[in-house]
This record gives sequence, C-alpha cells and structure tokens, in this order.
Amino acid sequence: MTTTVLVTGATGTVSTALLGALKGKPGLHLRALIRDPAKAHALQNDGFEVVTGDLEEPDTLADAFDGVDVLWLLTPASALEPSMGSNAVQAARHARVKHIVRNSAIKAGHGVPTRNGRLHALVEESVKASGIPWTILRPHYYMQNLLSSAQSVASDGVLYMNMGDAPVGMIDGRDVGVFAAHVIEHPNRHAGKVYDPTGPESMTMAKAADDLTSVLGRPVRYVALPQEAAQQAMLGFGLSRWFVGNVVDYGRAYADGWGDFVTSDFKALTGHEARSFKQFAADFASAFGGAVPSTARA
Ligand SMILES: NC(=O)c1ccc[n+]([C@@H]2O[C@H](COP(=O)([O-])OP(=O)(O)OC[C@H]3O[C@@H](n4cnc5c(N)ncnc54)[C@H](OP(=O)(O)O)[C@@H]3O)[C@@H](O)[C@H]2O)c1
Repeated sequence: MTTTVLVTGATGTVSTALLGALKGKPGLHLRALIRDPAKAHALQNDGFEVVTGDLEEPDTLADAFDGVDVLWLLTPASALEPSMGSNAVQAARHARVKHIVRNSAIKAGHGVPTRNGRLHALVEESVKASGIPWTILRPHYYMQNLLSSAQSVASDGVLYMNMGDAPVGMIDGRDVGVFAAHVIEHPNRHAGKVYDPTGPESMTMAKAADDLTSVLGRPVRYVALPQEAAQQAMLGFGLSRWFVGNVVDYGRAYADGWGDFVTSDFKALTGHEARSFKQFAADFASAFGGAVPSTARA
C-alpha cells in the first residue's frame, strides 16, 4: 500500500531537505505543495507530484489535500502562521489525513519571550485538537540564519549577528528535514511525541566565526550587533516589522542564554550525529566568499 505524503513549504530550506531524504523510499508517494506555479518545474523534474495551494486561502487547499495520508506541515515564519496552520489542519480534517507532522520551533509555548514561539504554540494547539494523530518537531535555531551575514563575511571578514555572546545549540536546517523524514517513514511510532532536534554542539557566534576562519582560510571575526542597530538595519532593508521584531526577540533571548542547550533527539532517531557548524560552513563556503565545496552533503 502506498502512503501519500503532502509536503508543505516545498521550496524552502527544511522541506527541500525532507523531500531529498524521502525521495525513492519504497511505499511513499511524495506530493509537494507550492503556491507559485512557476516553481513547479524543478520539483517535477525531481519526480515529485506538484500541487498548488495557498495556506492563507483555505478555498485553495481541497484538491491538494485529497487522498493525503501524512501531512508535513511547515508554515513560513510570519504573523499569519496561526491562520495558515489552522487552514491546513482544517483541510487535513476534511481530507481524513491520518497523521500530521508539524514543524514548530524551539520551546514553543504561550509564555515564551519570542513572538514566533507564541504563534507556534497556537498552531500546536490546532494540530493537537484536530483529532488526527500528530508528531511535533521543535527545532533549534537554524545555522542557515547566519547566511544573513554571508555578504559581510565575504567582503570584510565580519560576522554580524544580534546574538550576544551566549552559546546556542543551533542545527543545520537540512538536518531538520532529515529528522522529519525518519518520523514520516514510520509515523505511528512517533504519534503524540514532541521532539527538540538540535545540532551537536552549543556554541557561540565567536566560535562560529573561528570555524568560518578555518574553513575559508582567512580571518573572520564576530561582531555582536546591539539589538537597536540590528533592528534599524533590517528595517532599512525593507523587512517587515513583524519579521524584524521576531529576529530581535530571538536575539535578546539567545543573548540571555535561552538557547544554550543541545538534546540527543537527533542521534537517537537517526543513528548519527547532526552536522556540525564546521560542516555547514564548508558546504556553504561559496556563499561566505570561499571556494565551492567539492563534497557538500545534500
Ligand atoms: N529560522 C530558524 O532558526 C527556525 C528555527 C526553528 C523553527 N523555525 C520555523 O521553521 C519554519 C520555516 O522553515 P524554513 O526556514 O524551511 O522555511 P523557508 O525556507 O522560509 O520556506 C518557507 C516556505 O513556505 C512557503 N510559503 C510561504 N507562504 C506560503 C503560503 N501562503 N502558502 C503556502 N506556502 C507558503 C514558501 O514558498 P515560496 O517559495 O512560494 O515562498 C516556502 O516554500 C517557520 O515556521 C519557523 O518559525 C525556524
């Protein structure tokens, strides 16, 4: 019997890795949800069924959800996340989806200091109240966030982040996709579970700059941006007030040590260590102004 998996966020960091990890697994039919038909071609070339739908618009979702057994529910970081999440859950209910795997966020909860974490708590509630068996992933800070400073690393050897000096157990977003793939292969084993995947090491941004130095073969230093300066810079780039405020929420929390932890969840589920920051830096060296890697893992 074939299990149809609907992958939302199919063009993004985590879901791209998830599709890559599930590709070719026996018994799975992979259906990618996109909102922009212009992005269908690459996914179709990779052999995935592609459907269009907008999570902000519930009326666009019925066909995409029809016949789905497992829903991978990833929504973009946005003030509309609870709306998109509940639209997806409602569509899943109507389509009699059998399992929802939700991509939430670190320490999601109603009383947490990040607006994103509080919105994720609302989506988690929608998922849990759906009557559909569920699994929730609350991944730690993605290493890919450091790509926001890749240009200044490349041009000036400076990693600017608003993260203060406390260590953070960040994870490569691709490993969140790998983790999710393990859950989706055997959803029943993970019903009712909440996982907190992290990277292998809780490390400071100064250590990240050291790793970039060693990978790129030239000096990179970390400059801890004050929150106000980070806020002004991001607003100047035209980013939305919600998004900027969210980055500042996380920056403050992490600077206070809120993210200084790792868990064993990744290794326990997959049987191997999550990628180190050094591996991430090597794989993305070209973005940071270095040579293109010869052995980047997908
Ligand atoms: N960054 C972190 O450190 C971190 C850590 C833990 C958890 N998270 C959570 O992870 C999630 C983001 O994951 P990610 O970084 O892999 O995402 P991402 O790369 O930003 O991709 C977002 C995806 O959502 C799609 N999308 C946007 N609006 C949509 C809509 N209205 N309807 C349907 N699809 C839509 C985008 O499609 P288009 O190609 O059309 O734009 C894209 O495929 C967020 O929930 C965030 O809170 C983030």
